[in-house]
Amino acid sequence: MHAHAHAKVNLHLGVGPARPDGFHELATVFQSLAIHDVVQLELADAPSSSPRHQLQVAGPYAAGVPTDASNLAWRAVDAVAAYLRREHGALGLPAVSLRLHKSIPAAGGMAGGSADAAATLRLAAQAYAEYLGVEVPGDSVLQEMAADLGSDVPFTLLGGTALGTGRGEALSPMLARGQYHWAIITSVQGLSTPAVFAKLDQLRAAGRGSQPHLDTADISRALISGSAEQVAAALHNDLQAAALSLRPDLRKVLDTGEAAGALRGIVSGSGPTCAFLCEDAETAAEVVAQVSADNRGTRGMVTHSPAPGARVLA
Ligand code: C5P
Repeated sequence: MHAHAHAKVNLHLGVGPARPDGFHELATVFQSLAIHDVVQLELADAPSSSPRHQLQVAGPYAAGVPTDASNLAWRAVDAVAAYLRREHGALGLPAVSLRLHKSIPAAGGMAGGSADAAATLRLAAQAYAEYLGVEVPGDSVLQEMAADLGSDVPFTLLGGTALGTGRGEALSPMLARGQYHWAIITSVQGLSTPAVFAKLDQLRAAGRGSQPHLDTADISRALISGSAEQVAAALHNDLQAAALSLRPDLRKVLDTGEAAGALRGIVSGSGPTCAFLCEDAETAAEVVAQVSADNRGTRGMVTHSPAPGARVLA
Protein backbone atom coordinates (compact mmCIF):
# COMPACT_ATOMS: atom_id res chain seq x y z
CA MET A 1 0.00 0.00 0.00
CA HIS A 2 1.25 3.47 -0.68
CA ALA A 3 0.12 7.03 -0.05
CA HIS A 4 1.00 10.54 -1.16
CA ALA A 5 2.04 13.03 1.53
CA HIS A 6 1.81 16.63 0.34
CA ALA A 7 3.90 19.58 1.54
CA LYS A 8 2.28 22.85 2.64
CA VAL A 9 2.93 26.54 2.44
CA ASN A 10 1.58 29.10 4.94
CA LEU A 11 0.02 31.88 2.86
CA HIS A 12 -0.55 33.75 6.12
CA LEU A 13 1.19 32.95 9.39
CA GLY A 14 0.10 35.13 12.30
CA VAL A 15 1.79 34.28 15.59
CA GLY A 16 0.36 35.38 18.94
CA PRO A 17 2.14 35.32 22.31
CA ALA A 18 3.55 32.10 23.82
CA ARG A 19 0.96 30.15 25.83
CA PRO A 20 1.59 28.50 29.21
CA ASP A 21 2.16 25.16 27.39
CA GLY A 22 4.99 26.75 25.35
CA PHE A 23 3.07 26.75 22.05
CA HIS A 24 2.07 29.98 20.32
CA GLU A 25 -1.49 30.85 19.42
CA LEU A 26 -1.68 30.97 15.61
CA ALA A 27 -3.97 32.35 12.93
CA THR A 28 -2.60 30.73 9.81
CA VAL A 29 -3.79 29.94 6.30
CA PHE A 30 -2.35 26.71 4.98
CA GLN A 31 -2.38 25.55 1.38
CA SER A 32 -1.16 22.13 0.19
CA LEU A 33 1.48 22.00 -2.53
CA ALA A 34 1.61 19.48 -5.38
CA ILE A 35 5.08 18.36 -4.27
CA HIS A 36 4.77 15.19 -2.16
CA ASP A 37 6.60 12.33 -0.55
CA VAL A 38 5.51 8.76 -1.25
CA VAL A 39 4.98 6.51 1.78
CA GLN A 40 4.78 2.72 1.43
CA LEU A 41 3.61 0.41 4.20
CA GLU A 42 3.73 -3.37 4.42
CA LEU A 43 2.65 -5.55 7.34
CA ALA A 44 5.10 -8.15 8.65
CA ASP A 45 3.66 -11.66 8.93
CA ALA A 46 3.66 -12.38 12.62
CA PRO A 47 1.72 -10.37 15.21
CA SER A 48 3.53 -9.27 18.34
CA SER A 49 2.63 -7.39 21.52
CA SER A 50 5.68 -5.16 21.03
CA PRO A 51 6.11 -4.92 17.24
CA ARG A 52 9.48 -3.76 15.90
CA HIS A 53 8.97 -1.64 12.81
CA GLN A 54 11.44 -1.04 10.01
CA LEU A 55 11.88 2.32 8.31
CA GLN A 56 13.80 3.02 5.11
CA VAL A 57 14.26 6.48 3.62
CA ALA A 58 15.23 7.24 0.01
CA GLY A 59 14.82 10.03 -2.57
CA PRO A 60 16.34 13.45 -3.28
CA TYR A 61 15.74 14.80 0.27
CA ALA A 62 16.49 11.64 2.29
CA ALA A 63 19.59 13.09 3.99
CA GLY A 64 19.23 13.57 7.73
CA VAL A 65 15.77 11.97 8.03
CA PRO A 66 15.69 9.63 11.09
CA THR A 67 15.03 5.94 10.45
CA ASP A 68 14.09 5.03 14.04
CA ALA A 69 11.23 5.62 16.48
CA SER A 70 12.02 9.35 16.56
CA ASN A 71 10.53 9.63 13.05
CA LEU A 72 6.97 10.98 13.28
CA ALA A 73 5.79 8.37 10.73
CA TRP A 74 6.90 5.54 13.03
CA ARG A 75 5.05 7.21 15.91
CA ALA A 76 1.96 7.46 13.68
CA VAL A 77 1.94 3.63 13.28
CA ASP A 78 2.19 3.19 17.05
CA ALA A 79 -0.64 5.71 17.61
CA VAL A 80 -2.97 3.75 15.30
CA ALA A 81 -1.97 0.41 16.89
CA ALA A 82 -2.57 1.78 20.40
CA TYR A 83 -6.01 3.09 19.37
CA LEU A 84 -7.06 -0.24 17.83
CA ARG A 85 -5.79 -2.16 20.85
CA ARG A 86 -7.90 0.06 23.10
CA GLU A 87 -11.01 -0.05 20.91
CA HIS A 88 -10.98 -3.71 19.92
CA GLY A 89 -8.91 -5.36 22.62
CA ALA A 90 -6.55 -6.57 19.88
CA LEU A 91 -3.41 -7.74 21.65
CA GLY A 92 -0.95 -8.59 18.93
CA LEU A 93 -0.52 -6.59 15.75
CA PRO A 94 2.19 -7.19 13.15
CA ALA A 95 5.12 -4.79 12.89
CA VAL A 96 5.25 -2.69 9.72
CA SER A 97 7.89 -2.00 7.15
CA LEU A 98 7.73 1.67 6.08
CA ARG A 99 9.46 3.24 3.07
CA LEU A 100 9.59 7.00 2.67
CA HIS A 101 10.54 8.47 -0.69
CA LYS A 102 11.46 12.05 0.24
CA SER A 103 10.84 14.83 -2.29
CA ILE A 104 10.01 17.37 0.44
CA PRO A 105 13.04 18.93 2.13
CA ALA A 106 13.43 18.02 5.83
CA ALA A 107 13.51 20.77 8.49
CA GLY A 108 12.47 23.21 5.78
CA GLY A 109 9.23 24.74 7.04
CA MET A 110 7.16 22.73 4.53
CA ALA A 111 5.75 20.13 6.97
CA GLY A 112 7.46 17.20 5.20
CA GLY A 113 7.77 15.11 8.38
CA SER A 114 4.19 15.99 9.36
CA ALA A 115 2.90 15.00 5.91
CA ASP A 116 4.69 11.63 6.13
CA ALA A 117 3.04 11.07 9.52
CA ALA A 118 -0.40 12.01 8.15
CA ALA A 119 -0.04 9.61 5.20
CA THR A 120 1.18 6.90 7.55
CA LEU A 121 -1.87 7.39 9.82
CA ARG A 122 -4.11 6.62 6.83
CA LEU A 123 -2.02 3.64 5.69
CA ALA A 124 -1.69 2.10 9.15
CA ALA A 125 -5.41 2.67 9.90
CA GLN A 126 -6.39 0.86 6.71
CA ALA A 127 -3.83 -1.96 6.95
CA TYR A 128 -4.41 -2.76 10.63
CA ALA A 129 -8.21 -2.46 10.35
CA GLU A 130 -8.22 -4.89 7.40
CA TYR A 131 -5.90 -7.24 9.33
CA LEU A 132 -8.29 -7.23 12.32
CA GLY A 133 -11.44 -7.27 10.19
CA VAL A 134 -12.77 -4.11 11.87
CA GLU A 135 -13.97 -0.76 10.52
CA VAL A 136 -11.23 1.66 9.40
CA PRO A 137 -10.95 4.51 11.97
CA GLY A 138 -12.70 7.60 10.59
CA ASP A 139 -11.27 11.03 9.87
CA SER A 140 -12.26 12.56 13.22
CA VAL A 141 -10.32 9.83 15.07
CA LEU A 142 -7.32 10.25 12.74
CA GLN A 143 -7.46 14.05 13.21
CA GLU A 144 -7.17 13.59 16.99
CA MET A 145 -4.15 11.31 16.60
CA ALA A 146 -2.70 13.82 14.11
CA ALA A 147 -2.99 16.69 16.62
CA ASP A 148 -1.17 14.60 19.24
CA LEU A 149 1.68 13.97 16.81
CA GLY A 150 2.34 17.64 15.91
CA SER A 151 0.79 21.01 15.09
CA ASP A 152 1.03 20.63 11.27
CA VAL A 153 -0.06 16.97 11.05
CA PRO A 154 -3.84 17.70 11.06
CA PHE A 155 -3.55 20.07 8.09
CA THR A 156 -1.37 17.72 6.05
CA LEU A 157 -4.02 15.03 6.67
CA LEU A 158 -6.84 17.33 5.47
CA GLY A 159 -5.10 19.23 2.63
CA GLY A 160 -6.51 21.88 0.29
CA THR A 161 -6.77 25.34 1.83
CA ALA A 162 -7.64 25.85 5.50
CA LEU A 163 -7.53 28.33 8.34
CA GLY A 164 -5.59 26.95 11.30
CA THR A 165 -6.08 28.33 14.81
CA GLY A 166 -5.02 27.17 18.28
CA ARG A 167 -1.50 25.87 17.78
CA GLY A 168 -2.42 25.29 14.13
CA GLU A 169 -4.37 22.08 14.70
CA ALA A 170 -7.92 23.53 14.80
CA LEU A 171 -8.89 23.66 11.12
CA SER A 172 -11.65 25.23 9.03
CA PRO A 173 -11.56 24.62 5.27
CA MET A 174 -11.48 27.87 3.25
CA LEU A 175 -12.87 28.80 -0.13
CA ALA A 176 -10.03 29.28 -2.61
CA ARG A 177 -10.14 29.82 -6.35
CA GLY A 178 -7.35 29.57 -8.89
CA GLN A 179 -4.13 27.63 -9.23
CA TYR A 180 -0.88 29.13 -7.96
CA HIS A 181 2.62 28.57 -9.31
CA TRP A 182 5.56 28.50 -6.93
CA ALA A 183 9.32 28.51 -7.05
CA ILE A 184 10.50 26.79 -3.87
CA ILE A 185 14.07 27.42 -2.77
CA THR A 186 15.46 25.13 -0.08
CA SER A 187 18.64 25.52 1.94
CA VAL A 188 21.08 22.69 2.51
CA GLN A 189 21.29 23.84 6.14
CA GLY A 190 17.97 23.45 8.03
CA LEU A 191 16.48 25.74 10.70
CA SER A 192 14.98 24.60 14.02
CA THR A 193 11.28 25.50 14.43
CA PRO A 194 11.47 26.01 18.25
CA ALA A 195 14.54 28.27 17.75
CA VAL A 196 12.63 30.48 15.28
CA PHE A 197 9.60 30.83 17.61
CA ALA A 198 11.95 31.62 20.51
CA LYS A 199 13.74 34.25 18.40
CA LEU A 200 10.41 35.92 17.63
CA ASP A 201 9.59 36.09 21.39
CA GLN A 202 13.03 37.58 22.01
CA LEU A 203 12.65 40.19 19.23
CA ARG A 204 9.21 41.16 20.53
CA ALA A 205 10.47 41.44 24.12
CA ALA A 206 13.13 43.84 22.83
CA GLY A 207 10.44 45.92 21.08
CA ARG A 208 11.45 44.60 17.64
CA GLY A 209 9.85 41.95 15.41
CA SER A 210 6.33 42.19 13.99
CA GLN A 211 3.35 42.42 16.33
CA PRO A 212 0.87 39.52 16.07
CA HIS A 213 -0.98 39.76 12.75
CA LEU A 214 -3.92 37.47 13.47
CA ASP A 215 -6.36 38.94 10.94
CA THR A 216 -6.68 36.74 7.86
CA ALA A 217 -9.28 38.87 6.02
CA ASP A 218 -6.85 40.09 3.31
CA ILE A 219 -5.65 36.64 2.32
CA SER A 220 -9.21 35.19 2.37
CA ARG A 221 -10.41 37.96 0.04
CA ALA A 222 -7.41 37.38 -2.25
CA LEU A 223 -8.06 33.62 -2.37
CA ILE A 224 -11.70 34.20 -3.27
CA SER A 225 -10.61 36.51 -6.12
CA GLY A 226 -8.34 33.77 -7.51
CA SER A 227 -5.83 36.42 -8.61
CA ALA A 228 -2.15 35.54 -8.11
CA GLU A 229 -1.30 39.28 -7.84
CA GLN A 230 -3.80 39.74 -5.01
CA VAL A 231 -2.62 36.61 -3.20
CA ALA A 232 0.99 37.77 -3.62
CA ALA A 233 0.15 41.16 -2.07
CA ALA A 234 -1.57 39.45 0.91
CA LEU A 235 1.18 36.89 1.73
CA HIS A 236 2.36 37.37 5.32
CA ASN A 237 4.61 35.57 7.81
CA ASP A 238 5.14 36.81 11.40
CA LEU A 239 8.07 34.36 11.71
CA GLN A 240 9.95 35.88 8.78
CA ALA A 241 11.85 38.53 10.77
CA ALA A 242 12.95 35.88 13.28
CA ALA A 243 14.04 33.46 10.52
CA LEU A 244 15.98 36.29 8.80
CA SER A 245 17.61 37.26 12.08
CA LEU A 246 18.89 33.67 12.50
CA ARG A 247 19.69 33.27 8.80
CA PRO A 248 20.58 36.69 7.29
CA ASP A 249 21.59 34.95 4.03
CA LEU A 250 17.87 34.37 3.30
CA ARG A 251 17.42 38.11 2.63
CA LYS A 252 19.49 37.77 -0.55
CA VAL A 253 17.52 34.67 -1.56
CA LEU A 254 14.27 36.67 -1.25
CA ASP A 255 15.74 39.65 -3.13
CA THR A 256 17.16 37.61 -6.02
CA GLY A 257 13.86 35.71 -6.43
CA GLU A 258 11.83 38.90 -6.66
CA ALA A 259 14.40 40.44 -9.04
CA ALA A 260 14.16 37.30 -11.21
CA GLY A 261 10.44 37.94 -11.79
CA ALA A 262 8.50 36.42 -8.84
CA LEU A 263 5.40 38.38 -7.80
CA ARG A 264 6.49 37.99 -4.15
CA GLY A 265 8.78 35.83 -2.02
CA ILE A 266 8.29 34.83 1.63
CA VAL A 267 9.94 32.55 4.12
CA SER A 268 7.83 29.37 4.29
CA GLY A 269 6.63 28.66 7.86
CA SER A 270 9.64 28.72 10.17
CA GLY A 271 12.02 28.50 7.17
CA PRO A 272 14.66 28.30 5.84
CA THR A 273 12.73 27.38 2.68
CA CYS A 274 11.60 30.43 0.71
CA ALA A 275 8.44 30.29 -1.41
CA PHE A 276 8.03 32.58 -4.43
CA LEU A 277 4.59 33.06 -5.92
CA CYS A 278 4.89 33.48 -9.70
CA GLU A 279 2.61 34.41 -12.57
CA ASP A 280 3.07 31.03 -14.31
CA ALA A 281 5.17 27.84 -14.29
CA GLU A 282 7.71 29.27 -16.80
CA THR A 283 8.47 32.25 -14.56
CA ALA A 284 8.76 29.89 -11.57
CA ALA A 285 11.35 27.83 -13.50
CA GLU A 286 13.34 31.02 -14.28
CA VAL A 287 13.23 32.05 -10.61
CA VAL A 288 14.51 28.62 -9.53
CA ALA A 289 17.37 28.77 -12.06
CA GLN A 290 18.39 32.33 -11.13
CA VAL A 291 18.15 32.00 -7.34
CA SER A 292 19.96 28.65 -7.13
CA ALA A 293 22.73 29.99 -9.42
CA ASP A 294 23.17 33.15 -7.28
CA ASN A 295 22.96 31.59 -3.80
CA ARG A 296 25.34 28.91 -2.58
CA GLY A 297 23.82 26.00 -0.63
CA THR A 298 20.35 26.34 -2.18
CA ARG A 299 18.30 24.01 -4.39
CA GLY A 300 15.05 24.78 -6.10
CA MET A 301 11.89 23.22 -7.45
CA VAL A 302 8.76 24.30 -9.25
CA THR A 303 5.38 23.30 -7.89
CA HIS A 304 1.77 24.47 -7.75
CA SER A 305 -1.11 24.66 -5.29
CA PRO A 306 -3.67 23.80 -4.00
CA ALA A 307 -3.31 20.02 -3.74
CA PRO A 308 -5.13 17.35 -1.72
CA GLY A 309 -4.25 16.06 1.73
CA ALA A 310 -2.62 12.73 2.55
CA ARG A 311 -4.30 9.99 0.54
CA VAL A 312 -3.95 6.27 0.06
CA LEU A 313 -3.62 5.15 -3.57
CA ALA A 314 -4.92 1.86 -4.87
O1 C5P B 1 3.82 20.85 17.14
P1 C5P B 1 5.23 20.70 16.69
O2 C5P B 1 5.92 19.54 17.35
O3 C5P B 1 5.37 20.67 15.20
O4 C5P B 1 5.99 22.01 17.17
C1 C5P B 1 7.38 22.12 17.14
C2 C5P B 1 7.81 23.30 18.00
O5 C5P B 1 7.42 24.51 17.33
C3 C5P B 1 7.17 23.38 19.35
O6 C5P B 1 7.88 22.63 20.30
C4 C5P B 1 7.23 24.88 19.65
O7 C5P B 1 8.52 25.25 20.06
C5 C5P B 1 7.02 25.49 18.26
N1 C5P B 1 5.60 25.84 18.03
C6 C5P B 1 5.05 26.90 18.72
N2 C5P B 1 3.73 27.22 18.50
C7 C5P B 1 2.98 26.55 17.60
C8 C5P B 1 3.54 25.47 16.88
C9 C5P B 1 4.86 25.15 17.12
O8 C5P B 1 5.70 27.55 19.53
N3 C5P B 1 1.72 26.90 17.41
